[in-house]
Amino acid sequence: MKTTIIKVTRKHLEGLGSAAQILRDGGLVAFPTETVYGLGAVCSKETALLNIFAVKGRPADNPLILHIYHLDQLTQIVSSISPAARKLIDRYWPGPLTLIFPKRPEVSPVVTAGLDTVAVRMPSDPVARELLRLTNIPVAAPSANLSGKPSPTLGEHVITDMSGKIEMIIDAGPCPAGVESTVLSLNGANPVILRPGVITREEMEEVLGRPVLSAKPGDNDRPQAPGMKYRHYAPVAPVTLYEGEPVKIIHEINLRLAEKQGQKVVVMGTAENISRYRNEWVLDMGPRERPEIIAGRIFQLLRFCDQLQADQIFIEGIADRGVGTAVLNRLRKAAGGNIVHVS
Ligand code: TXA
Ligand code: MG
Repeated sequence: MKTTIIKVTRKHLEGLGSAAQILRDGGLVAFPTETVYGLGAVCSKETALLNIFAVKGRPADNPLILHIYHLDQLTQIVSSISPAARKLIDRYWPGPLTLIFPKRPEVSPVVTAGLDTVAVRMPSDPVARELLRLTNIPVAAPSANLSGKPSPTLGEHVITDMSGKIEMIIDAGPCPAGVESTVLSLNGANPVILRPGVITREEMEEVLGRPVLSAKPGDNDRPQAPGMKYRHYAPVAPVTLYEGEPVKIIHEINLRLAEKQGQKVVVMGTAENISRYRNEWVLDMGPRERPEIIAGRIFQLLRFCDQLQADQIFIEGIADRGVGTAVLNRLRKAAGGNIVHVS
């Protein structure tokens, strides 16, 4: 298939009419959002929805998020909106928060992987909003990467993974947040974060005035995002994540580096520590106390490790709070459980 690539800026939104038409006709279009690039299909065409799974190599039991432009579209797809959901919608939509609702029967089971709930978000990115407005049908969109690969935060990433497989790619440059939306379930006794993102537990607790829980992988009595059980975000080379006190992490990584002479090891470290690693390849993730900057870079850096043809990747962990929780969640998955605690 020939993939048309169009370049737009977030200030000049012309040319999206053809993208909307492709979606309405049942084609696949990759588009930017404020989090990561999405691979879109309208929720009304089951063959298009099935194509998303085929093109990504995504397991059929991992449900999709529906993207909407207007709240009128929400009432077409969900059967009820709780008071807590209303508060979060008022505060965070449009923005990087996905909420899980009871679904209306009209929503295809291909979207929800047979669940009786549906994930919905209203993106804030101007390109995504204009595309959704012109399409005028909710758009199902997972991240526009091949299943298991780091999520795409640059047009180039999407072109690498999706060229020749989909009708169109809209390239608008880097995605500002850099990690996928926070996914929150409101269907149990307490709100539960199924996937951490740049909208944090701490912020949502303040808005809701009650505790917000975090789902832990393997936690059986809490609702899970089915996507959590798969290995994710992995570059080709094996990743080791080091967690604990920074000085101890640096010491431990330098010991391991000394053992790996002759191999191309890439270290991903925080800005304040990159000069302390005794290695040729050290990538700057950003300042330790600015996890939102690190969030904006991690997927790009993980993909860059592939371009460098790294044999091994060592990553310095950061504090598990605020946006740091979202960063660590992605890094732990990239490491596939290969985590060294040094404190
Ligand atoms: O920022 C984002 O959310 C991006 C952009 C493109 O919008 N999209 C994205 O989609 O990250 P995806 O498919 O890569 O991740 C969707 C996550 C998965 O972990 C999935 O299991 C979970 O949402 N999910 C979807 N529907 C669900 C449901 N009904 N119940 C629980 N989890 C659900
Ligand atoms: Mg994804």
